Amino acid sequence: MGRKKISVIGAGNVGATAAQIAAGKDLGDVVVLDIVQGLAEGKALDLSEWGGVDPFSGSVRGTRDWKDTAGSDIVILTSGLARKPGMSRDDLLAMNTKIVQSVSAEIARHSPNAIVIVVSNPLDAMVHVTGRVTGFPRNRVMGMAGVLDSARFAFFISEILGVHVGDIQGVLMGGHGDDMVPLPRYTSVAGIPLTELMDKPTIDRLIDRARKGGIEIVNLLGYSAYYAPAAGAVKMAEAILNDSRSIMSCCAWCDGPYGIRGAFVGVPVMLGANGVEKVIELRLTPDEQKALAESAGHVSELVVKVDGLLDGGTRST
Ligand code: NAI
Ligand code: 2OP
Repeated sequence: MGRKKISVIGAGNVGATAAQIAAGKDLGDVVVLDIVQGLAEGKALDLSEWGGVDPFSGSVRGTRDWKDTAGSDIVILTSGLARKPGMSRDDLLAMNTKIVQSVSAEIARHSPNAIVIVVSNPLDAMVHVTGRVTGFPRNRVMGMAGVLDSARFAFFISEILGVHVGDIQGVLMGGHGDDMVPLPRYTSVAGIPLTELMDKPTIDRLIDRARKGGIEIVNLLGYSAYYAPAAGAVKMAEAILNDSRSIMSCCAWCDGPYGIRGAFVGVPVMLGANGVEKVIELRLTPDEQKALAESAGHVSELVVKVDGLLDGGTRST
């Protein structure tokens, strides 16, 4: 069996960094595609030359031609506009719906068996666009947000407790928005529930910081985060390519669990060779369930808008 093929759509901050991490981890041959002339080609050449310093086995190729992505095993979809200061993720909706719609149609055409990991914002709504436009089985379409949001939560906890961040398992659900639902009861530090180690006001402060983690970086940099987001997407790709059956929070198709009827939303899932192998159903308190329903409700409002845009414009399917 040859090397796996990973295509990264968008050679901007998240895309180029995801290509770098995927190549460096020897996940396979990486193709980076962008519409801007020379951008993907230049980043891919630089990354290939980086391989001369820190060698890896696969190739990195940059392109503007979708044919070069043909037969991808995994596609990491990062194309689209990113937030600037003062913008919410939802402000990106109309522009990114168009971009993700056209890109998803190309993915379906050139890589009909691929598993797609969407990163573009607003995340949950863009996963819906990819699901609808590709028509792929729902286990092969997912979004990266929970890995990032729980990593942020874990880092903030590690700073306060002064413990190794790797000891912390942050658990979080809901949409990738300000109403995401971190779950301190299920978050553990080396197996010890967070609620045993931290008082409620401190936990609430860290939850608030995790919810605003994206904008905190936008306000510092003037553009949005990319190291941790790219690493999050590659972590999901790695679990799928290695069939590791790892559990992480992802935006995945949920039809039944948590009372959610047929929507892409952030839930803990098991990732393996088939993509989303299963949604893990945790027992939630009434308050947690209410917070999740509110977050899922916000996602479904965006999905209604997205469906309006897809139905009003040229259908790609
Ligand atoms: P960026 O602006 O650095 O890169 C985006 C790239 O997409 C640009 O190079 C652009 O030329 C390209 N692009 C636009 N239309 C395209 C098309 N039709 N085909 C191919 N390429 C196209 O933005 P960045 O920082 O890489 O962010 C990318 C997306 O990811 C944004 O929507 C951002 O909001 C989102 N994001 C999501 C996160 C999450 O947790 N889900 C975290 C960080 C960013
Ligand atoms: C983030 O959370 C902007 O969604 C992006 O960093």
